Amino acid sequence: MDDPTPGSENSAEKTAANSTRTETPQPAAGGDDAFDQRTFRRAVGQFATGVTVVTTLFEDQPKGLTVNSFTSVSLAPPLVLWNLGEGSDSHRAFMESEAFALHILHAGQEGLAKRFATRGADKFGETSWRSGPGGLPLLDNCLISLECQVEHRYPGGDHAIIVGRVNAIHHGEPGDPLIFHGGSFLTR
Ligand SMILES: Cc1cc2nc3c(=O)[nH]c(=O)nc-3n(C[C@H](O)[C@H](O)[C@H](O)COP(=O)(O)O)c2cc1C
Repeated sequence: MDDPTPGSENSAEKTAANSTRTETPQPAAGGDDAFDQRTFRRAVGQFATGVTVVTTLFEDQPKGLTVNSFTSVSLAPPLVLWNLGEGSDSHRAFMESEAFALHILHAGQEGLAKRFATRGADKFGETSWRSGPGGLPLLDNCLISLECQVEHRYPGGDHAIIVGRVNAIHHGEPGDPLIFHGGSFLTR
């Protein structure tokens, strides 16, 4: 992609091509190459995301958690992914279920996001939901809900990367999305 910005990567590449390359990449000036987990978390938390709740049915029980690692992967076939922490109470449920539903939350659903991010909370008792195909829990009134079949699971450090094929799209109430940034939900 063209980048017209002076001093951008393109100019840097040209400069580097005319000078002697070192074998070991050097940290950028002011960079921190000896960071702890908290610093890493804060750094990546600067990336603003939407917020989703992912649900499944496991051993006849609805399971779910709040997730912001969602992204779309492929249009054809329609694939999405999200990351599941190995410390999650729902870990086994999502590692063994063959389907999940992913709900994109609107700005008024901060309470729902917090409930599904709280271990041990009565997540479904206080939530309006219905059973979809195969008993998949579908939450009411979200922006969009995607019914997915699990296609792949990959190891990713202390998370599993779960890739799903979207089988159905449910359109809920239109509205603004719920946004998460810097460890907080954004309110407008
Ligand atoms: C905004 C937000 C985004 C989150 N994203 C993820 C995520 O992508 N993957 C994950 O495993 N946990 C994520 N969490 C944490 C889980 O929601 C939290 O650990 C939850 O308690 C897990 O529920 P469980 O232990 O009952 O399964 C997120 C939490 C919040 C508040």
